[in-house]
Amino acid sequence: MVAQEVTYLDNAATSWPKPPVVAEAMSRFLAQDAANPGRAGHRMAVAAERMLDTVRKELTEFIGGNDLHRMIWTMNCTDALNIAFKGLLRPGDHVITTTLEHNSVSRPLQAMSDSGFITLTRVDFSPSTGLINPDDIRQAIGPKTRLIAITHASNVVGTIQPARDVGKIAREHGVKFLLDGAQTIGVAPINVQHDYIDLLAFPGHKSLLGPTGTGGLYVNATVKIDELTAFREGGTGGDSASPQQPRLFPYFLEGGTPNTVGIAGLGAAGEYVRQHVPAKTLAHEQALVQRLLDALAEIEAVEVYGPSTAANRVGTISFNVDGYSPQELGGILDEAFSIAVRPGLHCSPYAHKSLGSFPDGTVRVSPGAFNTEADIDKLLEALREVTA
Ligand SMILES: Cc1ncc(COP(=O)(O)O)c(C=O)c1O
Repeated sequence: MVAQEVTYLDNAATSWPKPPVVAEAMSRFLAQDAANPGRAGHRMAVAAERMLDTVRKELTEFIGGNDLHRMIWTMNCTDALNIAFKGLLRPGDHVITTTLEHNSVSRPLQAMSDSGFITLTRVDFSPSTGLINPDDIRQAIGPKTRLIAITHASNVVGTIQPARDVGKIAREHGVKFLLDGAQTIGVAPINVQHDYIDLLAFPGHKSLLGPTGTGGLYVNATVKIDELTAFREGGTGGDSASPQQPRLFPYFLEGGTPNTVGIAGLGAAGEYVRQHVPAKTLAHEQALVQRLLDALAEIEAVEVYGPSTAANRVGTISFNVDGYSPQELGGILDEAFSIAVRPGLHCSPYAHKSLGSFPDGTVRVSPGAFNTEADIDKLLEALREVTA
């Protein structure tokens, strides 16, 4: 068991540990109700369907939505993004995105652009603030712009983007707004009404503290079902006589047996997150990040990317150390000090190009809800030893 001795600082990739209630809920569901959900089925099938809808309702309320049926279950955030892009975009559409994006936004859009299906504009961010400027997005809007798709927080430097301002611009121009909530859901506030979000893609396994294999796409009422095509067609547990995918949320965008066990865990995780108050978790992560930033500023060989304060940030920072590639340093921290950090490009090559850390990337440290000051101090001690 490696994990027992590891100081885990890789929560931007997936959160760890998970609260014990998550495994308990998954195990309970497996033992009791783990039939294939179906609206018209036997009692166990109906119980499984009811569990899916209960968690849909809780998460819908959590993000300020008002229709639980518009909460679509997905495998992860990438899956949600693909369902959104491939469902919404039509030939000739123009899409605006940013250089901060994860490949899960960047690659599907790039592929659609490469095939001539859409045209694409990538708006840059400021390397010193780690922020995009909403005015740059406004200026990129043209007559064919159909979608603005941005990340809510950078997975490289952690900065929280002005989502509401961008959403407002999109709404004013009759353009759809997709927010990638991968780095924020569960820790920074997201409200689909207040922030003018038409489509919210998110994972269950990061700050929502749920298991891997879970995620969701919330389709706000501003997107009509007729504006979408189904990305994944198949069985829906009802309306079986219909030759086509039923034009009914959530089934229109869901097909096949869902990850019921994972969603049972996600339900318990979401309740845990709400009880522990996301704003408090964010303050805790920011305090750890500030402790780290302050101490790194004292180590001459260290270069930190992005802003030097923890304000307006999730618990993620990136840096490099003179004389070591990110891979070398990540390997030393893992093998010699049992500290888990993430070296490399973090699936965001354009962000590193703008930050000046391409092609090697950075060492990314991402404390989460369960990290302590002692974890940060252990990392700092290791870095002082390496740079001595
Ligand atoms: C900003 C951002 N978007 C999307 C993703 C993809 O999430 P998933 O691995 O759940 O597909 C990640 C994962 O790290 C991310 O950081």
